[in-house]
Amino acid sequence: MNLRRWLGPSVIVATLALSGAVQPLVDQARAAGPASTPVPKITNLSGGLGAQDSQQVTADQAKGYGPVDQTAPLDFSTQPKTVPHEYVPGRLYNVQVYTKYSYAQLIGQMTYFASSLGVQCTYCHNAQNYAYDTSTKKAARLMAKMVVAANAQYIDPVHKDYPNYAVSGAVGCVTCHRGQPRMAVQYNVVPVQYLDYRYKNQKQAGYTVNSMYGVARSLGVNCLFCHNTADFISLQYYPTNQIAHRMWRMVDAINHEYLPANIKAVTCYTCHQGAKWPTRMVTAALDQTPVDPKAAHPEVHENPGAHLASGAQP
Ligand code: HEC
Ligand code: HEC
Ligand code: HEC
Ligand code: HEC
Repeated sequence: MNLRRWLGPSVIVATLALSGAVQPLVDQARAAGPASTPVPKITNLSGGLGAQDSQQVTADQAKGYGPVDQTAPLDFSTQPKTVPHEYVPGRLYNVQVYTKYSYAQLIGQMTYFASSLGVQCTYCHNAQNYAYDTSTKKAARLMAKMVVAANAQYIDPVHKDYPNYAVSGAVGCVTCHRGQPRMAVQYNVVPVQYLDYRYKNQKQAGYTVNSMYGVARSLGVNCLFCHNTADFISLQYYPTNQIAHRMWRMVDAINHEYLPANIKAVTCYTCHQGAKWPTRMVTAALDQTPVDPKAAHPEVHENPGAHLASGAQP
């Protein structure tokens, strides 16, 4: 029997049997870890929100940045040289990401930040000196860099590889935040080093499949949305699978390259929130006009098998 064909389904069955006992596996993985690659934060692989998750969320909330303490004295020794001691409104001093923006455009972006997170300007700024970098503002700047990079490197707003494939839209602050500065982590995604288990061991295969439940639930789809059950191993059947592959790398990059360790992990759910395309996309990286998801996706591909039946390249 072809071992690769056999491995996929058998692992699914084994994982179903094990699904109550996922956390010990995760703990083992954290303790052991692959020799060369650091194991990133994995808060929950179990795929659902149980008591453990609520505790995790509460603990994470305590670590957040929160609104800026307006009474804390300013310490200019920790600041970039461009930050003035005497702040004059209407001028730009310490803009590192939106460098091409005029003052008016920057304020437009700021209004967008505030409404995406459901906060006031003073959540991030010292009201006496908007150029002064607070911890919350620095976190927001990292987020801005992450959004620009994710859109440039991983998001395909017009689906140029699949021109007939009706998904469009870029990621903005609102895609994840949806009116809240902090949110719960749901359905964690295993790091990419566990993803391609084909040439690795059964234990890692278990992580991949556990993660798959979270992936499916994050998108509100079933396994057939991305896989051909006759062949779980080949990825070529549906574009969704290849898109998911690209998304997985994006999630890994977001968590390891852009966000500091004290920020909670981003998962498929953070953007998708139960929908196969995030309902809160924006039209372009720096143009924050929200897209009407219905207008952007006239063709709903409920049955991915249709691509196969028609024999057409979807
Ligand atoms: C979510 C955090 C956040 C919120 C809320 C926010 N800002 Fe900002 N603000 C930033 C960041 C980050 C920068 C720096 C952007 C960069 O480096 O490109 C910035 C920069 C600025 C600057 C330029 C300061 C300078 O260096 O000269 C002004 C002015 C400003 N914000 C005003 C506002 C106003 C007014 C509001 C409310 C409508 C607001 N901000 C809300 C995070 C925020
Ligand atoms: C890919 C998802 C994602 C996107 C897009 C995103 N964020 Fe975040 N952001 C997070 C996560 C996750 C946290 C951590 C939340 C927590 O600790 O509860 C966070 C935290 C923050 C915080 C700190 C909140 C606190 O008080 O601890 C700020 C400020 C912030 N984001 C600003 C922004 C801004 C501004 C944008 C757009 C430029 C943005 N974010 C886009 C996922 C995202
Ligand atoms: C949103 C798309 C998507 C959904 C939904 C999905 N998967 Fe996956 N699946 C992937 C991707 C991407 C991989 C990565 C394969 C790789 O790189 O080896 C994968 C890998 C796998 C593998 C390992 C194949 C191999 O040998 O590499 C198995 C088994 C699997 N998925 C099972 C499932 C099951 C069971 C479900 C339903 C609970 C499911 N998947 C739902 C996208 C998806
Ligand atoms: C930073 C936000 C973000 C995160 C996190 C994210 N996605 Fe996406 N996803 C998008 C956007 C935006 C689109 C539409 C544009 C595109 O395809 O590039 C999309 C589209 C998709 C599609 C195509 C849906 C369809 O109907 O054609 C799949 C499949 C998908 N994502 C899977 C995943 C998986 C799996 C994960 C977790 C590993 C994930 N996404 C995490 C933003 C995100």
